[in-house]
Amino acid sequence: MWKGRFAQETSALVQRYGESVSFDWRLYPHDIAGSIAHSKGLLKAGILTADEQGQIEAGLLQIRAEIEKGDFEFKESLEDVHMNIEAELTRRIGPAGAKLHTARSRNDQVATDVRLFCRTSIDALNELVRAMQAALIECGERGGGAVMPGYTHLQRGQPVLFAHHLLAYVEMLARDAARLTDCRQRLNVMPLGSGALAGSTIILDREFVAQQLGFDSVSQNSMDAVSDRDFIAELLFAISLVGVHLSRLSEDVILWASAEFGFVRLSDAHTTGSSLMPQKKNPDVAELTRGKSARLIGNLMSILTLLKGLPMTYNRDLQEDKEPLFDSIDTLSLALEVFTEMISGMDVNPTATTAAASDPMLLATDLADYLVNHGVPFRQAHEVIGKLVAYSIEKSRSFGEMTLKEFQQFSPAFGADVTACLNLETAMQARKGIGAPSPENVKAQLSRWRKVLTQS
Ligand code: ARG
Repeated sequence: MWKGRFAQETSALVQRYGESVSFDWRLYPHDIAGSIAHSKGLLKAGILTADEQGQIEAGLLQIRAEIEKGDFEFKESLEDVHMNIEAELTRRIGPAGAKLHTARSRNDQVATDVRLFCRTSIDALNELVRAMQAALIECGERGGGAVMPGYTHLQRGQPVLFAHHLLAYVEMLARDAARLTDCRQRLNVMPLGSGALAGSTIILDREFVAQQLGFDSVSQNSMDAVSDRDFIAELLFAISLVGVHLSRLSEDVILWASAEFGFVRLSDAHTTGSSLMPQKKNPDVAELTRGKSARLIGNLMSILTLLKGLPMTYNRDLQEDKEPLFDSIDTLSLALEVFTEMISGMDVNPTATTAAASDPMLLATDLADYLVNHGVPFRQAHEVIGKLVAYSIEKSRSFGEMTLKEFQQFSPAFGADVTACLNLETAMQARKGIGAPSPENVKAQLSRWRKVLTQS
């Protein structure tokens, strides 16, 4: 493609070192869409005749069909997807093909292709995030009103509904989807027409070309446009955060599935056995997902480090943006898919969760609230209940076993109605403020999310 200035062939080693077609071939649908749109721009500017543009478009569509069928041979010697397609087009249609690269550089071409690729990938990821949310909702609904302890510091804190715990992840995933959508909006700007770095003396109607490709606008600075990869960093951050959320859920599932908790049963199809210990049923999907989030974060670090200190404008370093991008998209897509399946096959064990949630200590805060409702300042109530807890542990007598007299030794504010707040069911119903886990609230949230997920 640059033989004019060179007397020597590129060394075989340099070819092998510099080729990107082994991984960037997958940009082909976007590269072809970009080239067809560009050819229409060239037609409009009078650089191509209608006949030439027609030949280019038909040739590119034919190449695309062959690639889809696996009948196209990508050559390492042609370096990247862009040169492979252009060279083959020109080999097939001759002079018209040789005009396609007018007023274009691979620098604005690749920037355009990668943006299109990210756009498509974000749409697919958002679908997978929604499916995951739907699986969580459905699992929460299947769990009925199962009550479980909610934890802070991995110590039993207060009772919650199992579904409330799952709904926390639905919220996280909703923010993730919003971040992906936000990133999509910001990246939907067309670099094509920026040339190598300074545009071209041949003036194309860039807005017309952008319209062909579904871009919302065109870039306003050619130097920025060819070297900007902010959108990849943003996308890899958004993806990393989904990974972080999945790894947190993984950890919860791993704990829940252990004999120590016994809160959930995972399906045989989503667990594995041990080659040595016959009794084992391992939550590998959750462990792998927890592990894969490390890769996603690593890929984000690669991109940030790649961009740091890079002088303007395009530098070949930027070719290194693709593998981390592709890997993150592939890794997260599969993680979401398999996790969704696993959650759909996960059942809560209400007997175990209720037994754990029936630990009377979980209602210590409720007892403090009881005193507050009877005129005791909270700090004082907290201290009273602290002493009551110590007494309960020392005497091995749970709150439920204590007499009113015993309660009153700690505060005269206790009355006969204190037993009501020691009932798990009443205690759950009392948590009815916005965002709290009363059964009624949780039911409303489940149906709100159901509606949100079936809309749009
Ligand atoms: N394969 C290259 C990349 O991904 C395409 C752009 C090459 N541009 C250049 N001036 N060598 O970055």
